Amino acid sequence: MTEITNPGEKKLVLVSGRAHPELAEQIAAELGIDLLPSSAYTFANGETYVRFEESVRGADAFVIQSHPAPINEHMMEQLIMIDSLKRASARSITVVSPFYPYARQDKKHKGREPISARLMADLYKTAGADRLMSVDLHTAQIQGFFDGPVDHLMAIPLLAQHVASKVDTDQVTVVSPDTGRVRVAEQWAELLGGAPLAFVHKTRDINVPNQAVSKTVVGEIEGRTCVLIDDMIDTGGTIAGAVKVLKENGAKDVIIAATHPVFSHPAAERLGGCGASEVIVTNTLPLREDQVFDNLTVLSIAPILAQAIKEVFDEGSVTSLFEGRAN
Ligand code: R5P
Repeated sequence: MTEITNPGEKKLVLVSGRAHPELAEQIAAELGIDLLPSSAYTFANGETYVRFEESVRGADAFVIQSHPAPINEHMMEQLIMIDSLKRASARSITVVSPFYPYARQDKKHKGREPISARLMADLYKTAGADRLMSVDLHTAQIQGFFDGPVDHLMAIPLLAQHVASKVDTDQVTVVSPDTGRVRVAEQWAELLGGAPLAFVHKTRDINVPNQAVSKTVVGEIEGRTCVLIDDMIDTGGTIAGAVKVLKENGAKDVIIAATHPVFSHPAAERLGGCGASEVIVTNTLPLREDQVFDNLTVLSIAPILAQAIKEVFDEGSVTSLFEGRAN
């Protein structure tokens, strides 16, 4: 069965790009349907071709695509899928991008820079998307970039539940690896029974990409189990640097929790050897064999995405899935 039809004769179809088929399959399994059969290939000159093998006329279509490297190719494929659905008379088109592309380019740090995260939202809209669904956006303001409804889903409760099952929450301090994530750390603290907060002072030279220097820790972490949180881990420099500072300042244990495992080289090496007892992420992005390491735990985001898709299709409440916390 490739569609769900409800009593009002609405039709839900799920389509997936080629970036992360396992996640799309998991979402489809949660919903009890099959992905819409499609053909996708790349021409010799690099152009992408997509065609859906069944009718989507009148359907509420959900276009699942993750955005690992090479992001530009996966983005282009998703845009082409949206265009194809629009031209095939889908009733509504919802972009499902668990890891929002170009999220870190959400403002100008210097003159003559782009705001690429805004451009992505405009491209989705121009291609024909009516609605956008994503998980733990780098900054919540990205919701305002898309001209239409945005479902901003949270992986934090899933990650926090896993952490809570492993540690004595009385011993936990939630640590933000920089000042930018303190608000998110507050949400974590609430989910971990009012745990105290700390943050690492990190600096970055805006002229040098992929390099951050973690300096000092602000807050009481000596003898504590530090739950070091972030939205994404890319090269692992930020997180490994923060673990070092925490250990130097007497942390008893460090557990790392982040939603999006970008894991660009040399993240696996850094994270595997940084001294954290566990690194917990979700599968918003696929991981190759060379990106996994011993103390890595990957939790599936598929049930949350599937529930949100169902709520949108049934015109229910996505916020209710997060006890009113989602924004
Ligand atoms: C920064 O604002 C982000 O939240 C991450 O901390 C950062 O992008 C991670 O990059 P890396 O792992 O390369 O330090």
